[in-house]
Amino acid sequence: MTKTWMITGTSSGFGKELAQIVAKQADTNLVATARKTADLAYLDAFDSSRIAKVIMDVTNEDAVKAGVEAAKNKFGGIDVLVNNAGLGYFGTIEESNEKDVRQMFEVNVFGLGNVTKSVLPIMRAQKQGVIINISSALGLTSIPTLGWYSATKFAVEGYSNALRQEAAPLGIQVMNVEPSGARTKWNAGKTAPVEIADYSKFSDMVNGASNGVTQAPGNPELIAETIYKMVTENQEVPAHLPLGTFATEGSKRELTNILKDVDKYHDLSISIDK
Ligand SMILES: NC(=O)c1ccc[n+]([C@@H]2O[C@H](COP(=O)([O-])OP(=O)(O)OC[C@H]3O[C@@H](n4cnc5c(N)ncnc54)[C@H](OP(=O)(O)O)[C@@H]3O)[C@@H](O)[C@H]2O)c1
Repeated sequence: MTKTWMITGTSSGFGKELAQIVAKQADTNLVATARKTADLAYLDAFDSSRIAKVIMDVTNEDAVKAGVEAAKNKFGGIDVLVNNAGLGYFGTIEESNEKDVRQMFEVNVFGLGNVTKSVLPIMRAQKQGVIINISSALGLTSIPTLGWYSATKFAVEGYSNALRQEAAPLGIQVMNVEPSGARTKWNAGKTAPVEIADYSKFSDMVNGASNGVTQAPGNPELIAETIYKMVTENQEVPAHLPLGTFATEGSKRELTNILKDVDKYHDLSISIDK
């Protein structure tokens, strides 16, 4: 049976790689979203009858609703939603610019929420669907200079964990993908340069952020391929798909540290339930 995938943020990076994989499949429709029409010109190389190009900013609720409606009208449903659109921001917690941080939350958290809210009624009516949220290794652990970014992805994790429980009885699965640093323009996002001397040891992390566009270990094409295969080759997707060495080792370290404190203060902790 023909499946329909909707992917947000397909102008570049993981979204563009995944869109090209989906567009190549004979039995799959693609709803590719971007903010600018010109950014989707690469899809002209594929069968246009199975592709819907949707222009939307995920923070614009009306545009999201209209885009999802157009997709439903063209293909009759949406089987797989990939919430991929997202921004990065490098800076220490204290020096980060509140306006930029709020904008990042608008896209990474509330934008993802807008798209999901518009797609859920379609998946509920179908009694099936898969929602893939592109979180981050930094949704499972945190490092200096990416604290606010990490906060957006921890928000995505908490949101997804609840949604997974609400949607599972309705036949809808939720998978979070947690990639490590990968070679995309995400690394060239906004930065708040280190100016407070006490944080000078983090200067290089902020100043060198854009090097990740070419030097980060993660390969966007392999990340997209792994996501595609996980969904198409399995009846059930995992709750978490950490990708890359940092995601794997970092999340293990974080969970082990949490467990240490949980165990150490177990008796004290349960003593407050009276
Ligand atoms: N690269 C990494 O190291 C890494 C690691 C873990 C997780 N991630 C996550 O992976 C996802 C994809 O990022 P990427 O690495 O592929 O970077 P990317 O190449 O910068 O792609 C980000 C995509 O999000 C879109 N976008 C940004 N703001 C938007 C908005 N308001 N409305 C709609 N689309 C918007 C961008 O569109 P425009 O071209 O119009 O800006 C672009 O298509 C993000 O959620 C990111 O946080 C990245």
